Amino acid sequence: MTGDPYNNQPIGVFDSGVGGLTVLKAIRDALPNENLVYLGDTARLPYGTKSPASIERYATQAAAKLQEQGIKLLVVACNTASAVALDALRETMAPIPVVGVVEPGATAAVAAHAGGRHLVLATEATVRLGAYSKAIAERDPDAEVREQACEMLVALAEEGWSGGNIARAIVRRYLEEANGHDPDTIILGCTHFPLLKDTIQAVADDHVILVDSASTTADVVRAALAAQGTSRDSGSPGSLRLLATDGATRFARVGGQFLGRSLSYSDVELVDL
Ligand code: DGL
Repeated sequence: MTGDPYNNQPIGVFDSGVGGLTVLKAIRDALPNENLVYLGDTARLPYGTKSPASIERYATQAAAKLQEQGIKLLVVACNTASAVALDALRETMAPIPVVGVVEPGATAAVAAHAGGRHLVLATEATVRLGAYSKAIAERDPDAEVREQACEMLVALAEEGWSGGNIARAIVRRYLEEANGHDPDTIILGCTHFPLLKDTIQAVADDHVILVDSASTTADVVRAALAAQGTSRDSGSPGSLRLLATDGATRFARVGGQFLGRSLSYSDVELVDL
């Protein structure tokens, strides 16, 4: 489909807040010519403490807002929404392909340590559904998985407090909760947690490998575009639009840390779902 104008349509990416920007960044690095539109549902963050029915409703509304922007593919850059609502989103968004982050995260974990002991740090909702345990068991029946809910890490990441004594103490407390598991890998099963990577690595044992789903998700996106013949073939760099449902200034301040560049509130468009 060389030169097809449809291929210029953006890829839509959403999360409850700024966390999914870790996935957006990986997609941008892997596919720099793609146009991207990101939605952070900051008005309703966190998703991880909500009921499955609320999470599915929020995710469906976020996806519909991105569909209005004419997206050619949707990335659910939120483990919680991927765990709870991926099937529902695939149904409502069809024929637009929908890529979640749990399965790519499980793929990355198994690649990092086959037959390993994995500790998943995630939100309450993701842990309650055992989403990573199921996805890893499908790929590696010999693996051992333990899942630990770490909801306060979402607040730390949104606050921009990814290092220092407070972050270290909270990470240490959560790792103590999972005591006795002695993991080979720690899976960052929430897209907010890569911002705390250095802190988690400093608190964990030296041999532990930290795994996140960002780059494997970018691989899945690339393969989905190739399979559909919808990769953007222009040589010009892709555009990026940032949408949020509340707090443009805060979104810009913390989002800049996730993207590794400074953003101002005027870079963020406020939208209602
Ligand atoms: N970043 C989200 C995830 O990957 C959820 C954080 C939240 O809203 O609780 O699960």
